[in-house]
Amino acid sequence: QDKQAWSGRFNEPVAELVKRYTASVDFDQRLALFDIRGSLAHAQMLAACSIISVQDLNDIQRGLAQIEKEIADGDFVWQLDLEDVHLNIEKRLTALVGDAGKRLHTGRSRNDQVATDIRLYLRSAIDDIIALLKNLQKALLDLAQHHTHTIMPGFTHLQVAQPVSFAHHLMAYFEMCQRDVERFGDARRRVNRLPLGSAALAGTSYPIKREMVAELLGFESVCQNSLDAVSDRDFAIEFTAAAALTMTHLSRLSEELILWMSPRFGFIDIADRFCTGSSIMPQKKNPDVPELVRGKTGRVNGHLVALLTLMKGQPLAYNKDNQEDKEPLFDTVDTLTQTLRIYADMMSGITVKQEAMRSAALQGYATATDLADYLVKKGLPFRDAHEAVALAVRHAEQKGRDLAELKLDELQQFSNLIADDIYGVLTLEGSLAARNHTGGTAPQQVEAAIARARKLL
Ligand code: ARG
Repeated sequence: QDKQAWSGRFNEPVAELVKRYTASVDFDQRLALFDIRGSLAHAQMLAACSIISVQDLNDIQRGLAQIEKEIADGDFVWQLDLEDVHLNIEKRLTALVGDAGKRLHTGRSRNDQVATDIRLYLRSAIDDIIALLKNLQKALLDLAQHHTHTIMPGFTHLQVAQPVSFAHHLMAYFEMCQRDVERFGDARRRVNRLPLGSAALAGTSYPIKREMVAELLGFESVCQNSLDAVSDRDFAIEFTAAAALTMTHLSRLSEELILWMSPRFGFIDIADRFCTGSSIMPQKKNPDVPELVRGKTGRVNGHLVALLTLMKGQPLAYNKDNQEDKEPLFDTVDTLTQTLRIYADMMSGITVKQEAMRSAALQGYATATDLADYLVKKGLPFRDAHEAVALAVRHAEQKGRDLAELKLDELQQFSNLIADDIYGVLTLEGSLAARNHTGGTAPQQVEAAIARARKLL
C-alpha cells in the first residue's frame, strides 16, 4: 500500500475511518482533466524559468498524456488511500516517469492547485450553461413568434387582470433568461483569474512567472493576493447564486405550465414525452418535468446556503472546510444543465389552446381598465373614472354579462361621456392594441421585442 505524500512527520498511520472521512477522490476525480491542464501549464512555466529541466518537462508531458488517456479509457485506478484527485494523479505520474513526477509540485501547493482546478471547471461549466440558456431562449422566441395575436388573461394575485398576448407572457421569461445570461457572464469574469503561484498561502520562493501560467490557461489575470487566492470561494458562491436565480425563473414558469395544463385552465398541453401517468388512475397525465424543476430549485437554493455557510466562519487562509465546496457545486452544475437541456425541448413541444385562453380572458372584466382610460381621455379625472367603471362592473356582474355585452344606454347610466365608439375599446384586441409602447403587449410591440431578442442570440 502506498504511503501518503505527507506522512513523513507522522508516528502512526491515519485511522481507516479518518481516511475515508477526509478523502475527496470519490467526487473530486471529476476535476481530473482540469488538474492535468493546470499541471501542464505549471510545468511549462517551471521549465521556462529553469526551475526544472526541459527533460523533466518532457517526462511530465508524456506521463500526463498517458494518464489522461487512462482516465478517458476508464483504466485509471483511483485510490482512496491517496486522498484526492491531485495526489492520485501525482502518484501515478511518478510511477510512470520517476523523479520528474516528483518535481512537478515544486513551487505549488494543493491549495492553489485545487482553487485553479475549480475555476477551470467552473469556467467551462459557465460556457455550457450560457449556450444552453441561449438555446432555451431560442425555443421561447420560436413559440412566441406564433402567438403575438393569441390572447390570454394576464393575472395579478392570480385573478384576471388585463388581457395580454401569450407571446408577451413568454417574452417575460426571455428577459429573465437574458439577465441570467448576463449574470453568468459577469460571474465568469471573476472566476477567470489564476490562483496558481499562491502556493500554500504566502507565495513561493521560486522565481515563477504567474502571468505565463495565466496566459497558457486562458485566465484573464492572476489573483492579486496569495492568502485570498487560496481561501475564498466567493466565485463559486456567486456562480451558485446565479444558478439559483435561473432555477427560480424556471420554477415560476414551471408553476405556470402546471396550472395551465390543469383542466381548470386548459391553456396548454405538454407533449406526452415530458409527462407520466398514474399507477392507479388510468386517466392521468401528470406534468412531472415542470414539477421536478420546481422541486429541484429547492435543492439548488440549498446548495447556495450550504456554500455561504461553509465560508462564513473560516479564518484565512485555506481550511479543509473548503473541500466541502465541491459536491454542492457539482450538483448545482448537473441540476442546472440537465434542467436547461430538458426545458428547451419541452417548450418546443407545447400545444397552445387558443380558444381556452381567449374565453378565460373574456371572463373577469379584463377590459375594465380600458373603459376607465376611455373616460379619462374624454376628460374625466382618473379616480372618478375608476369609480364609474367599478359601478358598471357591479351592474354587469349582477346581469351576468361582460361589459361589452351591455347596451349603450345601460353603459351611459354610469357616465354620459360614453358613446358607441366604446365597443372597439372593450374588445380584447382593442385592449392589446392600445398598449402600444416599448414593453407593452400590443402585437406590433411584441413583434419588435422578438426581433430585438433574436439579435441577442
Ligand atoms: N482535496 C482538497 C480540497 O478539495 C485539496 C486541497 C487540500 N489541501 C490541504 N492542505 N489539505 O480542498
